[in-house]
Amino acid sequence: MTEQDGKPFLYVVVCAAGVAADVGVLIGAARERDWEVGVIATPVAMGGFFDAAAVEALTGRPVRSAWRTPGEARPFPPPDAVVVAPATFNTVNKWAAGLADTLAVATLCEAYGLGVPVAVLPCVADALAAHPAYHDSLTRLRGMGVRFGEPYSGEEDRAAFRWERALDLLDR
Ligand SMILES: Cc1cc2nc3c(=O)[nH]c(=O)nc-3n(C[C@H](O)[C@H](O)[C@H](O)COP(=O)(O)O)c2cc1C
Repeated sequence: MTEQDGKPFLYVVVCAAGVAADVGVLIGAARERDWEVGVIATPVAMGGFFDAAAVEALTGRPVRSAWRTPGEARPFPPPDAVVVAPATFNTVNKWAAGLADTLAVATLCEAYGLGVPVAVLPCVADALAAHPAYHDSLTRLRGMGVRFGEPYSGEEDRAAFRWERALDLLDR
């Protein structure tokens, strides 16, 4: 466990899907389960998909999206676990392929080597989920030990996303 007020540290990776607006629900639930939380968002997600200032107030830390400069200290301690929610088609496919072109995907790629548990709540429309590349990505990531919540297309009521599932997957 990382030393951080004696609490384990959870990275929450946020991608650019509409449901990201509710990510505060996950942060609140994680803190209730005694996680310290740091949020890493994709650059597209930073463009208005969620309220970054509200997330910073909830976590007490900056939202990360860009790489630090070489001289800068690491803003977050190493993760004890990682949640990706919501996970987009784009990020899932890049992660599976090892294309670490954003801090968010690079963090996910690295999580495998760190050996920490990773839970994913995808938010992918059925038409996109039908693409064979997505199927292959899920197969590859599952083979790496990544834990997936059931499919959510983004068409459902936002309450049906049930953010706590991510924490349940980590507990499994
Ligand atoms: C309003 C809006 C909602 C979107 N919702 C989704 C979604 O639910 N799932 C998804 O895979 N892409 C969705 N997209 C498309 C992604 O934002 C787009 O593929 C983006 O490049 C993903 O970047 P990221 O994976 O780096 O976050 C949405 C785009 C917009 C404008």
